[in-house]
Amino acid sequence: MDNKPYFIKTAVPVTPEPRMNPEPWEQTSVVGKSMPRVDAYERVSGTAIYPSDVFLPDMLYAAIVRCPFAHAKVKSVDTTAAAKMPGVRAVLTADDPAADIPWFSTEETGPVSKLFDPHCRYAGEEVAAVAADTPQQAWDAVRAITVNYEELPFVTDTAAALESGSVAIHGQSNVVMPPSKYERGNVDSAFAQSGAVVEMTFRTSCEIHTPMEIHGSVAKWDGGHLTVWDSTQGVFAIQQGLAQVLKLPMSHVRVIGHYMGGGFGSKLELGKYTVIAALFARKTARPVKLFLTREESYLCVGNRPSTTIVMKAGATKDGQLTALQLTNVAAAGAYPGGTWVGSQAADLYLCPNVRVEETQVYINAGVERAFRAPGFPQGSWALEQILDELSQKIGMDPVEFRLKNIPSISQRQDKPYTSTGLRDCLVKGAESFEWKKARSHTGADGHIRKGAGVAAAQWGYAGGPPSTAIVKLFPDGSANLNIGISDIGTGSKTVMVMVVAEELGIPVGKIEIEHADTGTTPFATPSGGSKTVPADAPAVRAAAMEVKKRLLEMASSQLHMPASDLTVINGAVAPAAAPDKKVSFADLEEFKLQQVIVGIGYRAPNPAAKVAKPFAAQFAEVEVNTRTGEVRILRLTGAHDSGRVMNLLTYRNQVFGGMTMGIGFALTERRILDANTGKMVNANWHDYKIPTAMDVPNECECVPVDPHDTEYNSVGAKGLGEPATIPTAAAIANAVFDAIGVRVTETPITPARILQLLAAKERG
Ligand code: MOS
Repeated sequence: MDNKPYFIKTAVPVTPEPRMNPEPWEQTSVVGKSMPRVDAYERVSGTAIYPSDVFLPDMLYAAIVRCPFAHAKVKSVDTTAAAKMPGVRAVLTADDPAADIPWFSTEETGPVSKLFDPHCRYAGEEVAAVAADTPQQAWDAVRAITVNYEELPFVTDTAAALESGSVAIHGQSNVVMPPSKYERGNVDSAFAQSGAVVEMTFRTSCEIHTPMEIHGSVAKWDGGHLTVWDSTQGVFAIQQGLAQVLKLPMSHVRVIGHYMGGGFGSKLELGKYTVIAALFARKTARPVKLFLTREESYLCVGNRPSTTIVMKAGATKDGQLTALQLTNVAAAGAYPGGTWVGSQAADLYLCPNVRVEETQVYINAGVERAFRAPGFPQGSWALEQILDELSQKIGMDPVEFRLKNIPSISQRQDKPYTSTGLRDCLVKGAESFEWKKARSHTGADGHIRKGAGVAAAQWGYAGGPPSTAIVKLFPDGSANLNIGISDIGTGSKTVMVMVVAEELGIPVGKIEIEHADTGTTPFATPSGGSKTVPADAPAVRAAAMEVKKRLLEMASSQLHMPASDLTVINGAVAPAAAPDKKVSFADLEEFKLQQVIVGIGYRAPNPAAKVAKPFAAQFAEVEVNTRTGEVRILRLTGAHDSGRVMNLLTYRNQVFGGMTMGIGFALTERRILDANTGKMVNANWHDYKIPTAMDVPNECECVPVDPHDTEYNSVGAKGLGEPATIPTAAAIANAVFDAIGVRVTETPITPARILQLLAAKERG
C-alpha cells in the first residue's frame, strides 16, 4: 500500500499549489487539549439533521426487490400488479434503459455486473425497485412483483469455490485476480536454520459493519440538476460516482452529507440505493427517499471478509525473528473488493525473510468492502498469535520478544519511517497495564482463570494530498472554516476548528464550520483510511496561516512596524514586545474596508524518502470460566503512536471505540450462512451480536505515545481510527491462551469453542 488511498477508485484532482510544510508547532494552547465536539449538543439533542432525517414536500419512498436465492438467473419480472397498486408512482427493472448501468468495477476486471443484473450472485442482490407515496405502499408493491428465477447451484465456502468443477460465479475461475505476492530474503533456508519454528492455521469469520444510521439517500432534481442527501463518508466520491453513471457534469450533481451515523468503510463509495433514488426522482419529478432496512444492511452493503490464514514463523533460540510466511485466502463475496491481510507480517517486525501470498475468492455471498483497517485485524489475529506461540516455545516473555524485533525502517518499502513509536507503545503500554503483575495470575486454581495478552500493530496507509481548505475571518473576530471532509463520527470537525483556533488565536466557539457539501465546499477525498486528520488538518493550518499573514500585513502598515514583530492575541494584533499596544481586528482600517480575509490552504506532499505509519500495542486481561466457556474481559489498554494528540477527548474516544469493535471481532461477531440455502440467517441486531456497554470492561486505558513526528505533515498527527481496532482481538486471544492454555485460532471465541478445545486438551 502506498499513498494512493485504497478506497479511491477514480482519479483524484491534484492539489494545485501545495504550500511547503511550515514549522512544526512547539507549544500549543488549543490543539492537544480535551475538547467536547463542536456539534455535541446537536448530536445528543436530536437537532442534527442526518440524511435519514431529511423529509421534503411531496417526497416519495422507494424500496428494492431482492433476489432470495444465493445464486439464480432472473427469467422474467412481472410488475403489472404492483404498478397498479395504491400510491405506486414508478417501477424500475433491468428492462428500463435508464437502469442500464454497469456496476462493480475495478481497474483489473472492469465492470462485472449491472445495477439490476439478471445473473444474481448472492441472496440479497437487487432485481427491481418501486417508488410510492408511503414506505408501506412501496413495500406492499415490492411483495406484489413476481419474479421468475432459475435457481442455480451455489458455493459459499472459499475452499470449495477453489476446487476444480466448482460453481463458477464469474467466468471460469473463482479467483478474483492473480494472487498478490511479496517476498524478501530466503524464507525456506531461514526456516531450515531457525532454532524454533511454529506453523498454524487461523480462520476469521465474516463481520458486518452495522452502523447506527443505515445506508440511504434522498434525491431531488431541479431541472437538470441533481441534489442528493447521502449517508456517506465522502460526498465528493458520491458526486463523482453519480456524475459518471448518470452521465452528468460534476457541477450538476450536488451531494450533501453534514451528518452521518457511522460507516466504518461501508459508506466510502456510491451505493446502488443512491442511484435508484436519483433515477426515481428523475422519473417522477418528485424527491425520493431510499433508506435500506436493517436486514438489507446485513446483506448487501459490505462486510469484513472471512479469511483462512496459514502462517509459519521462525526465530532463533534467543528471540530473533528469522522468517515469516503467510498465505491467506479471503472471501471476496460475489464481486471484487480488496483486503490487506499480509501487510503487517511483511512490515511490523524486523525479519529478513518474508513470504506473503494473498488470494481473493468469489463466493455466493455479499461483497466485501473496506472495514475499519481492511484486512489488518485478520492479519493481526494470525501474526500476533503465532508470535505468542513462538515466544512460548523459546520461553521468552511476549513483550520482550516483540521488543527484540523492532525495525527502524519500513522493510516492505525500504525507507525509514518519519517516526516510529512501536517500542514506546510496547514499553509504556506494558508499564501502564502492569504487564508483569498481570501475567503472574497464570496458574490460579478454580474454574475461573485469569490471563493477560499483548498484541502490537501497524496501520498501512497514510494520508496525503490533495486537500484544500478555506478560512474566512471577519472583523468581529469570528471565522468560518470551509472544508469538504465528512465527519464520520470521529470528531474531525472539532479537530479542524481547533487548528484554526490555534493559529488565529480566536476561541473555538467563534468558528463556524461549513463542510461535506459538494455545492459549497472544496474537494476532499472520502473520510477513510484513518487519514482525515493527517490529510486535511495541514491544509486547514495552511489556510489559517494565510489569513494570519494577511492580517499582520494590514496591521503592519497601520502600526508602521514590520509584520514579523507583530503577533495575534485574542482577536487583536499587537507588537510581540508590547502586547498592551494591541489593535483589535475591528479597528484595522484595511480590514474594515474589506470586511473579510480569505485564506486558502493546500496540503503539502508527504516526504518522498520516508514512510509514515501509525503504530500500537494493546494489552488485554481476561477471565475464562472453564465450566461455561465464557470469556470476560477485565481490562484493556491501548498504547498508540498516532503522532500528535490533536484532541485528547476524541483521541480517547477512538481508542475505546476501536477496542470495543475489537471485542466484537474477538468474541461475538459472525455472519452465519445457512449451508442448505446460502442465505444469511442472523441478519439482524438480535442474532448478530455486537458488543454493548455490558461487554466493555470498566477498566479501559488509553496511553498516547507521541514520537513528535515533524516530517510527515505540518500538524504532526498520524492516523488513529483504524489502528485502534487492529490488535485488540489478537491480544484477547493471547490472554485467553495465558488463562487456560488453549489457543482459539478461529473467531469468534465462543463459549462452545472454548469448551470443545478444553475437552480436547483434557483428552490429550
Ligand atoms: Mo475506512 S475502512 O477507510 O472507512
